[in-house]
Formats: sequence, structure tokens, C-alpha cells
Amino acid sequence: MEAQALHIPDNEQYRELKRFIDASREVPGPLIQVLHRAQKIFGYLPLEVQHFVARELNVSLSRVFGVVTFYNFFRMDPIGDHIVNMCLGTACHVKGASEIIKALEKELGIQVGGTTADRFYTLSTARCFGACGLAPVLMLDEEVHGRLNPQKAVQILREMKARTAAAAREGVVKDKEEK
Ligand code: FES
Repeated sequence: MEAQALHIPDNEQYRELKRFIDASREVPGPLIQVLHRAQKIFGYLPLEVQHFVARELNVSLSRVFGVVTFYNFFRMDPIGDHIVNMCLGTACHVKGASEIIKALEKELGIQVGGTTADRFYTLSTARCFGACGLAPVLMLDEEVHGRLNPQKAVQILREMKARTAAAAREGVVKDKEEK
């Protein structure tokens, strides 16, 4: 892979990353630290950002790509505004978590790990939230929802979306009234 091939936009996100890289040059083995910061700035690590990191740290793009794909806390895809985290731990599994996951995948038109085209939801899974008494459980952002079935889970997602759309409409109306 060639690290110089891509045009890198000059914008504040890249400038912030560049400042961080410049400040990290003396740190031994700064790559992981730099990638963490890059993910914090951009939300994920698209190839373009990896090119930039490779060029600035003077390492090969293959090395950067290898690190990004090795650690599961790095993401190459954008995440949605809201994270749907379905528990697949034993208690939730026994109480039908996989049926719920199937229903959510169908509702959102994505698979686990994916993000909806409008970047509203990212669908993810976890192993036990410590709320097994409420199994099956999902977390929508920071909120725990328990004793679910596929219909209830889908309903929760629809309600969140409807609430967000209503809040956005209200914001538009207020903006117009203030003008
Ligand atoms: S197994 Fe799902 S919350 Fe514990």
C-alpha cells in the first residue's frame, strides 16, 4: 500500500490530528495512541485517515491498516447517532435474544455491526450487562430495556426515531417563529 497516494483535505479535524501527532512524536510507538485520537476526532477510521496517519508517522499504510483491523475497538465504518446493543449472554440467549436480533436486523435492514443508511442506528451485541434478571435485555445508548420480545424491541426503536423526528420538527418550527 502506498501512503502518499491520497489527497488529504485541509480542515480542522485533520489539523487537530496533526497537532496531536506532532506532540506525540517523541513518545515511543505512538501509532495506537494516534489512532485512538483519530477515532475520537473522526468517529471512525476511514482509509483516508489511515493514509494521513501513515504519512505523518512515516510508517507503511499496511502497518496502520493491520493495527486498525487487529483491535476490535477501532472502527473503519461510521457509527450511527444511537447504538442498539443487544445482549447475547446466556440468560438473554435462553430467553430468545437471537429472535430479537433477527427482528432488529429486519427492521433496520442491516446486520449486526452495521449502521443504517441514515446513520441513525448502529446495531451491536454484547455479553451480559449484569441485568440478567430482566432478560432478554438491550441497551439503547445508555438506557436498559428488559423483558423484551421481538415486537417490543422493534417498537422501542420506532419510538426513538419518532421522538427524534418530532423534536427536529419542533426545532424547525421554533426557528421559524424566532425569525
Ligand atoms: S445475560 Fe443478558 S444481561 Fe446478563
